Amino acid sequence: MKNVTRRDLFKTSLAVPAVVVAATETAIGQEAQPQTAPPATAIQGPGRERLLLDFGWRFHFGHATDMAQDFNFRGNFSKSGNFGPLGTLLFDDDDWKAVDLPHDWAIELPFQNDPALSSKGFYPLGRAYPATSIGWYRRIFELPASDAGKRITLEFDAAYREATVILNGFYIGRHIGGYDPFTFDVTDFASPGARNVLLVRVDATQSDGWFYEGAGIYRHVWLVKTNPIHVKQWGTFAHAQVRPGEATVRIRTEVENHGKGARSTRVTSTILDPAGKTVGKAATLPASLVEGGEHVYEQQVVVKAPALWSLERRNLYKLVTEIQADGAVTDRCETPFGIRTCAFDPEKGFLLNGKSVKLKGTCNHQDHAGVGAALPDAIQYLRVRKLQEMGCNSLRTSHNPPTPELLNAADDLGMLVFDETRMMSSSPEGLSQYENLVRRDRNHPSVFMWSMGNEEGTAATARGFQILTAMKAVSTRHDGTRPVSIAPLGGNNMGKFGFAACDVQGYNYADPAADAFHKANPKVPVMGTEQVSAVATRGIYAMDPQRGYVGSYDPYTTTGRASCEGWWSFCNARPWLTGGFIWTGFDYRGEPSPYGWPNINSQYGIIDTCGFPKDSFFYFQAWWTPKPVLHLFPHWNWPGLEGQEIAVWVHSNLERVELFLNGQSLGAKDMKPDSHLAWNVKYTPGAIEARGYKDGKQVMTARRETTGPAAKLVLTADRKEISADGEDVAMFAVEVQDAQGRYMPIAGNQVNFRVSGQGKVIGVGNGDPADHESDKGSSRKAFSGLCMALVQSSKAAGNLTVEASSPGLTPASVTISAKAVKLRPQVAVWEREVPAGAGITGLWRPAPMAAAAGRGGGGFGGGGNQVFSFRQNGNALGGTVEGGGGGRGGGGGDTPIAIEDGKLDGANISFSAAGVVYTGTLKGDAIELQRTGGAAMGGRGGRGAPPEPAGPRPAIGPPPDGSDPSSAAFIGLGRGGAGGRGAPTPAPIVLHRANR
Ligand code: GAL
Repeated sequence: MKNVTRRDLFKTSLAVPAVVVAATETAIGQEAQPQTAPPATAIQGPGRERLLLDFGWRFHFGHATDMAQDFNFRGNFSKSGNFGPLGTLLFDDDDWKAVDLPHDWAIELPFQNDPALSSKGFYPLGRAYPATSIGWYRRIFELPASDAGKRITLEFDAAYREATVILNGFYIGRHIGGYDPFTFDVTDFASPGARNVLLVRVDATQSDGWFYEGAGIYRHVWLVKTNPIHVKQWGTFAHAQVRPGEATVRIRTEVENHGKGARSTRVTSTILDPAGKTVGKAATLPASLVEGGEHVYEQQVVVKAPALWSLERRNLYKLVTEIQADGAVTDRCETPFGIRTCAFDPEKGFLLNGKSVKLKGTCNHQDHAGVGAALPDAIQYLRVRKLQEMGCNSLRTSHNPPTPELLNAADDLGMLVFDETRMMSSSPEGLSQYENLVRRDRNHPSVFMWSMGNEEGTAATARGFQILTAMKAVSTRHDGTRPVSIAPLGGNNMGKFGFAACDVQGYNYADPAADAFHKANPKVPVMGTEQVSAVATRGIYAMDPQRGYVGSYDPYTTTGRASCEGWWSFCNARPWLTGGFIWTGFDYRGEPSPYGWPNINSQYGIIDTCGFPKDSFFYFQAWWTPKPVLHLFPHWNWPGLEGQEIAVWVHSNLERVELFLNGQSLGAKDMKPDSHLAWNVKYTPGAIEARGYKDGKQVMTARRETTGPAAKLVLTADRKEISADGEDVAMFAVEVQDAQGRYMPIAGNQVNFRVSGQGKVIGVGNGDPADHESDKGSSRKAFSGLCMALVQSSKAAGNLTVEASSPGLTPASVTISAKAVKLRPQVAVWEREVPAGAGITGLWRPAPMAAAAGRGGGGFGGGGNQVFSFRQNGNALGGTVEGGGGGRGGGGGDTPIAIEDGKLDGANISFSAAGVVYTGTLKGDAIELQRTGGAAMGGRGGRGAPPEPAGPRPAIGPPPDGSDPSSAAFIGLGRGGAGGRGAPTPAPIVLHRANR
């Protein structure tokens, strides 16, 4: 039987009842969402482990300008391996916050009404906010001794921004960009058989873009172990040439030899079909791979009667790569890929598997309500499904490389991706960002084209041609199967300068320019790269500058750009026009438009930040899906507007719609394709009703009724079951209703969420673009009658009940189950054991003053920090001392040393560890200890104590034992005057109980 992977499970969805808006429409997610998915490449196999390193981190703010508040960070690069105390095992991070990745600290910050922060969502980040712009992350993990000889690599899917990585006190490297993945081979700095300390400083002071970008390690981190001879990161590439009845899969495999000497190495590639059956296999001849070298193997495998990947059938094949060196398998990894053809035709537009597909796309930034930029994988799936519900078949990852799991969701669910890099540049950094994007994403069948940038003025210059030509060469080298383009500023200079380097001519917004270009250049494929930019606030129908709201009727574009209907009717009337990407699918933080404060997020979305659809969603659903749609708006709660005219609109794909007010017909109208219907209706409380007709028969109705006051909450979960893996997430949406169960469209009640059982609220939201309540917390006001909480599973299976309550309203609760699953391979969370028991049993640490004493070698204060694990048994004292050995430069492997001869006699304590004798007294909550002997006095990482002068001191010159008369010890002796001997006595340390 085929092994069922987690990703297979995610493709299955469970239909659950939807909350109903105005009797006939779905307000919130009705389909079960898949949960987390494994990475697209390099799954476990012999010789390879790829472990999720998301759980069990500690976080603390640093400071961008005050060194003292930034843990004395001043670069600390002077010596290798002496980064400083917080890179060591002994550092006490008890007051650091426990966090799991992905983590975005920005959304936890309070909003600041500072116009300079407008484009970033009014979160205090940047030069003016040094106290909230730097974040430190710490993670201790153990490596088994059997890892000796393996290559150990840390892979960051991205961090925002400027990450400085330190392992075991060794500065490893820096990465600047906030969206592209980065990897460090840390083999030489890792300690197999010991505890390792990973420290990451993230500096979000500078910006990559002009929109909300988050802050911190907001994507996954992986610890990868391989044999020295292994497939390079993103080193497999499978692409197919399809002919009738068969496909030739071309396979490229890049293998590296980090081992000793040249090795005879070969690659075996096996292709598994979507059912897991082997449908092709090929082995290369052995090739000699020199020490430190790399070899690229090329293979071809013919697959008969291939099952193509398409939007309707997401057939995914799997390439299984096995590396053999001198006969032994040293690496095995799996790469999902799809067999399909993509092409652009200047007359027919985009062709998928030879069939014309109009690109019905949206641009999207990456943040979501409740979680900011740190999306659990399940939310990627939720977002793709939401877009599909609207009829979208494509998305543009504006304006940056996406999180890999978004591409997994696109592959699994059937969504084409226009995959964009952040930096349009042929500088080393620009090319490396683009190269990483192409290499990482080239196996995803959903990715149909590379975007080299957005609205770059330089693209329309001769220099732009040079830059884009150099960039294109990178994607040709590493892919060569997909076209490239760039989203231009408007429609000027189409086909010229840098745009001449593009395979497809894009344009942002400038529909007439696209028309003119096509007339003049009928052989060049044209695709809309960014369209519409209409604004709307969900559930609001009038402009309200004070509150920062925009009416939801489509022509309220405010930007002067096209309305939804304006663009789509233009686009759909031109078969040569490939389609386009609406700005945007979802609302996003930052870029409030058309207002500034109090708006903190954009209102361009067809869907709000939570995933609740706005009215235009149904315009697209009507014309982009085959599903019958009849959507009537606005709501019918307009106290005070009696007798005044209200524009009533219908989005529908039915043939004819008749409108009724309180049972009286207001006339029927024929629906024109790609259009909407509108009536002006004098407001009278009661009900408006639209009746939709097809083939002369009434097939649907939609009603909006004037409701009574808010009376109850209705709670819906988008999934009945989630995985108990500590990662999976369900969305719990609340609808406020009146006593008769009618959706209350103007309700703003405060809703409290309480979870009992195996889960927790990780964020809340309501889609209000001017709400300054935090997304972190468990309470949220409803906005236009809706709000939601994202609830994440724990790693324990069981039921999870969410209760939503609000003062004066009938509460609601929903129970879903968190089912036991095999956790994906991950690095175990490390915690220092806290001994439990009587007396002084427990963890003890020196008081901070003592801990800070004694500067180590190269860093700032490496000595003096110790951790005592005491176990008292009557008068006997056992346990360990960490950091007691002295003299070990750099952090990391401080092995706990066993306590010997430990005794307690009343308040008196004595023991020894590693030759250091500790004697002292228990004083209330503290233990005062004197240390003698051993090397402990030198300060760990310092030069160590000078040798003890042995002989009489001559009047001139050193003593016969060669000890240094200038040393502190000798000077001390001199001062002592008594000619005594022995090491100087270090100051006593005062221990306090500790948690970590
Ligand atoms: C576009 C730009 C987008 C966004 C949008 C707002 O020109 O490409 O990133 O800023 O305007 O309307």
